[in-house]
Amino acid sequence: MPAPIELHTPRLLLRPWRDADRAPFAEMNGDPQVMRHFPAPLSREESDRVAERLEADFAAHGFGFWALERKDSGAFIGFTGLRPVTFAVPFCPAVEIAWRLDRAHWRQGLASEAARAALACGFTQLALEQIVSFTTRDNLASQGVMQAIGMRRDPAGDFDHPALPAGHRLRRHVLYRLGRADWEVGR
Ligand SMILES: CC(C)(COP(=O)(O)OP(=O)(O)OC[C@H]1O[C@@H](n2cnc3c(N)ncnc32)[C@H](O)[C@@H]1OP(=O)(O)O)[C@@H](O)C(=O)NCCC(=O)NCCS
Repeated sequence: MPAPIELHTPRLLLRPWRDADRAPFAEMNGDPQVMRHFPAPLSREESDRVAERLEADFAAHGFGFWALERKDSGAFIGFTGLRPVTFAVPFCPAVEIAWRLDRAHWRQGLASEAARAALACGFTQLALEQIVSFTTRDNLASQGVMQAIGMRRDPAGDFDHPALPAGHRLRRHVLYRLGRADWEVGR
């Protein structure tokens, strides 16, 4: 079993999950504003099941969507990290980078700070050639993070999320990519 990776940034610790994260994770996942670009907010049970899956990634790969801990307060504030894409889309196999933060911590540069550390881990320690990210067309906050960390939109890669039914308001997704060579130039 690979040793779980931890990452540090000036303001954040990116670490594997702890049982104590479950309550603030469920609070974040139950916030309709945080979940605006997802089908629905999650119940405590649904949130716990997601936490179990995210924890299992660390056991399997040593990396995943890291729990974000603020160094100034020690508070759990969400996640950012890397995960193999598990559904069938033309750009697979691929590793995605993703993020979700508690609303109280938005617009402070924290998602992009965490994402830069995750990218560096992906391209150096994990030796990935490319990292992708995707979100709904209207999720400008998430696309803002993608742009802030140097990812480029690939309009030819836009896709319908296979987990959502035809006609669903969130089905169409935009795809961003970053290759290792471009990351090295931009760092
Ligand atoms: C997406 C999210 C993680 C962004 O977190 P954040 O810490 O506020 O992002 P940052 O402060 O690092 O901002 C990064 C860039 O995005 C821009 N941005 C952030 N929120 C934005 C918004 N609501 N609208 C437009 N741009 C936005 C910032 O201005 C910044 O750009 P800059 O570097 O040019 O200044 C946060 O809004 C969130 O958790 N949303 C709900 C969950 C979600 O949608 N996750 C993504 C699913 S794909």
